[in-house]
Amino acid sequence: MIDLRSDTVTQPTEAMLDAMQSATFGDDSRDGDATVMKLEALAAEKTGKEAGAFMPSGTMSNLVAMLAHGGRGGEVLVEEGSHTLNAELGGISGVAGLFYRGIPGDRGAMDLDLLREAVRPTTRNQMGTALIWMENTHNRAGGAVLPLTHMQAVCGLARENSVPVHLDGARIFNAAAALGTTAKNVAQYADSISFCVSKGLSAPVGSVLCGGAKFIERARAFRRMVGGNMRQAGPLAAAGIVALENMVERLPEDHRTAKRLAQGLHTIDASIVDPETVETNLVRASVRASGLKAADWSAEMKQRGVLVSPCATWDLRFVTHRHIGDAEVDHAISAFAETWKQFGTTDKHR
Ligand SMILES: Cc1ncc(COP(=O)(O)O)c(C=O)c1O
Repeated sequence: MIDLRSDTVTQPTEAMLDAMQSATFGDDSRDGDATVMKLEALAAEKTGKEAGAFMPSGTMSNLVAMLAHGGRGGEVLVEEGSHTLNAELGGISGVAGLFYRGIPGDRGAMDLDLLREAVRPTTRNQMGTALIWMENTHNRAGGAVLPLTHMQAVCGLARENSVPVHLDGARIFNAAAALGTTAKNVAQYADSISFCVSKGLSAPVGSVLCGGAKFIERARAFRRMVGGNMRQAGPLAAAGIVALENMVERLPEDHRTAKRLAQGLHTIDASIVDPETVETNLVRASVRASGLKAADWSAEMKQRGVLVSPCATWDLRFVTHRHIGDAEVDHAISAFAETWKQFGTTDKHR
């Protein structure tokens, strides 16, 4: 099976398995664990922040960031297609006790005029803005990269209004690679950042929340509250260290294979995807013109040895990663072309 459902399917490397075997087993919530502390320090250094806290998942890092920034009450301004609003099961209000306002955006970048209008103080009649949120790369926007000028403008607006900024940087290293810069340079426009080692970087589990030292201390307490205390997490952190040290540099290869995939799909039918929009390792493909819904497409592709996720009624999401080379991409394109041929192109669906 060629698994293009997500980059989370990546298996740990040999170097990770070796590092996991020789990791320490201190208790992260008592005296601390040396390997976890090393990962947290490395993550903080890479993102240009004072400190980091290791978390079991990106979802928990984001939730803890909301809790640690927000207090209870107040509004989070966030692009309306963001992962946190669409795929994190309402933790933002259900657990963090915050309101949110989805700001319309273009390729994941919030409309700056609408954002400016939405920022507001707390008065006797309204809860003010508690947090401004960005996501880079942007999952639902097909791995789109927020330009640094946009991030700078959002950050400037937030600073003018004394509102903190969080960056959901689950794939920050993909964003940095696409921008030709460092993660630190991207993260400078946020007070806190969460990123995952479990995605294209191939570690089995984990995310790190980074920010100011005081913020991270507060975040540790909230992590405990939501059940994320890590105990003997040394082996997981060891894999995370290898992820950060060895796996970042190869990410452009995933961007290249994603582009190749998009070009192949585009050749089958131009309505499927515009390869120009593919900036990182995600390809969002529209199957509307085939008349077959994405869930059925996913089942058809599985029959042909390719796993792919339906991500909307008419959209499939392909994600390239370390286990996907040109041969796998070409197989996926052939499987797609066969399926397209079978179901035909019916103009009424265009
Ligand atoms: C942008 C973004 N944020 C957060 C997450 C959540 O990460 P996790 O699956 O580790 O909870 C994801 C997962 O795909 C994501 O794409």
